[in-house]
Amino acid sequence: MPDLSKITCIEDLRVIAKRRVPRMFYDYADSGAWTEGTYRDNENAFQKIKLRQRVAVNMEGRSTRTTMIGQDVAMPVAIAPTGLTGMQHADGEIHGARAAKAFGIPFTLSTMSICSLEDIAEATGRHPFWFQLYVMRDRDFMERLIDRAKAANCSALQLTLDLQVLGQRHKDIKNGLSTPPKPTIANLINLATKPRWCLGMLGTQRRSFGNIVGHAKNVSDVSSLSTWTAEQFDPSLNWGDIEWIKRRWGGKLVLKGIMDAEDARLAVDSGADALIVSNHGGRQLDGAPASIDALPAIADAAGDRIEVWMDGGIRSGQDVLKARALGARGTLIGRSFLYALGAFGEAGVTRALQIIHKELDVTMAFCGRTQIDTVDSSILLPGTF
Ligand code: GLV
Repeated sequence: MPDLSKITCIEDLRVIAKRRVPRMFYDYADSGAWTEGTYRDNENAFQKIKLRQRVAVNMEGRSTRTTMIGQDVAMPVAIAPTGLTGMQHADGEIHGARAAKAFGIPFTLSTMSICSLEDIAEATGRHPFWFQLYVMRDRDFMERLIDRAKAANCSALQLTLDLQVLGQRHKDIKNGLSTPPKPTIANLINLATKPRWCLGMLGTQRRSFGNIVGHAKNVSDVSSLSTWTAEQFDPSLNWGDIEWIKRRWGGKLVLKGIMDAEDARLAVDSGADALIVSNHGGRQLDGAPASIDALPAIADAAGDRIEVWMDGGIRSGQDVLKARALGARGTLIGRSFLYALGAFGEAGVTRALQIIHKELDVTMAFCGRTQIDTVDSSILLPGTF
């Protein structure tokens, strides 16, 4: 185990991940669509929100424990589904799922993961995890994926609604993103500077899309996320599809990618258990507001008829607390997770969770609260949110 005691914030992990992960995969994680304005706003918007410091309040017996869709969580944070996670670090999804299990928070596996549903089930002793699904043209394949998720003991399905078409990310095009990377001169030169990563990859067989290759009809090789998306993701997706997916799945359903109060009301009508206020980390519609700015109106529209969660820009426990204060029962971390994974694998993810937990706990105390479940907008300075 590396000594990570000097790693004190998520930014430390980002800096190390940037050094250790091949450029095309680091860039894939750390970029947004077009101008990247929304991507940056997600983080920056948290800074404008100020906290009310309270003093001389008994701070003993603090707890960040709560529930997300009825599941106990050590803090209101889950690991978000992220594509190509196993390219940030060999067997990355397994590392993430193990760290989440040990910490007591949910892990979400992406459809576009490198490790498969079955890999995660086996590596975690069939501990329940969540699965993220895209709506694809090949409905037979989708049905099989849903059935595989059930068989793998997944306890919630997150349906992504904001990726019928792929937002353009300049760096991915320029880097020729593919998995595994093509042996071009530029790639080989870059890989030569990442010996740790290369060694890890040599030690695993998992180097392509584990949920897809060998499972989807006529697919023996998918190297490019953008090709697969263009060919397979269904641009005709509509609320009627959610109905049949809900029926087929039969368990807890979470709708991801809600950015509008009207869509929040439709999400309530669909009977889903939770919705995620998300602009896909600024990777889809550049020009959309920051998730934290969109949250209050959506929480208001949703009322208590559905759980409201959010993702986008969370780099600290303070961000988690602010999201909770503005109506998010839970939050999800994507990049904070990927930086930690790219830097140190499972140990890095554990460290990131410790950092976020400590920031959350201490900030809660400064705001005069001892229980996360009592946090509301009265911990925020009026006029700053
Ligand atoms: C996939 O969900 C991506 O954002 O690349």
